[in-house]
Amino acid sequence: MADEHERVQLPHSPSTSTFKDDIFKGKVLFCTGGGSGICYEMTKAIMTHGAQATIVGRKAERLESAAQSLSQSTGKRCIAASGDVRKPEDLANAVRKTIEAFGRIDFVICGAAGNFLAPIEGISSNAFRTVLEIDLLGTYNTIKATLEEVKKTRGSYLHVSATLHYSGIPWQSAPSAAKAGVDALSNALAVEMGPLGVRSNCVAPGAIRGTEGMERLAPKGSEDLIDLGIPLQKMGEKGDIASVGVFLFSPAATWITGEVIVCDGGGRHFQGPM
Ligand code: HXC
Repeated sequence: MADEHERVQLPHSPSTSTFKDDIFKGKVLFCTGGGSGICYEMTKAIMTHGAQATIVGRKAERLESAAQSLSQSTGKRCIAASGDVRKPEDLANAVRKTIEAFGRIDFVICGAAGNFLAPIEGISSNAFRTVLEIDLLGTYNTIKATLEEVKKTRGSYLHVSATLHYSGIPWQSAPSAAKAGVDALSNALAVEMGPLGVRSNCVAPGAIRGTEGMERLAPKGSEDLIDLGIPLQKMGEKGDIASVGVFLFSPAATWITGEVIVCDGGGRHFQGPM
């Protein structure tokens, strides 16, 4: 650990400029949860490489302004389709809007999620169900709404998972159970759709700085402590996860399906000082 070794200054998180500029030219991304955080950043990275996009989220105003910023910063078109992933009809509308605007869907990011800290004994049945309905059922609803279009383009799914369920994390029973389900759902999709040329993978982010998830889960001012618990000695950045997204949708990942790519600086391996 850091006592015995000098902490190495790692370079700033990689930029996706390591990929060719136009690898996603002509492609269309459909991203739930794209109005903010990790999914916004992934959408931006994929658009930077040539794709157009639809972002889906519940907060219409935030979504519209995110779509505008994405269009302005990437020079590609992004549209906002407000809706709740718990409602299949909202997703059907979002898909309809996407096809009207762009004519196709190549990539889907299932990223909408809900989370709060609550002990097993304290969380209500409705609260537990709410998290499962957003994270797991919402992922299923998104797959169901988009699959017909994704089959046409032999496209690819990316689910935003987590590392919470690899061990027991206190006060995180609902999102842990939900994300374990997301991994399983992604695998099922991969084997059912593989023969049709459709891929399905997950990215499992560790602690990512500047996200709503970290705001909700970690006490303010604890960043330095969290950094020290990560073998690579720093929390991740949204760009770290965006790079994984670009890789998994890129032709470099053509033979990768049914995988979970963990991107956590090695954090899940750290058990604390003996
Ligand atoms: C205990 C809570 C609660 C809290 C809500 N509930 N917040 N229980 N502690 N802090 C309970 C409510 O009392 C209610 O149960 C039930 O949950 C539903 O609450 P609603 O407010 O009606 O639900 P809704 O408006 O649909 O909001 C969903 C939400 C909310 C999940 C509760 O927090 C939300 O919209 N979050 C979206 C954004 C988000 O969470 N982003 C971070 C994702 S981070 P009762 O019994 O009273 O009816 C992430 C990363 C994971 O996923 C990995 C990190 C390392």
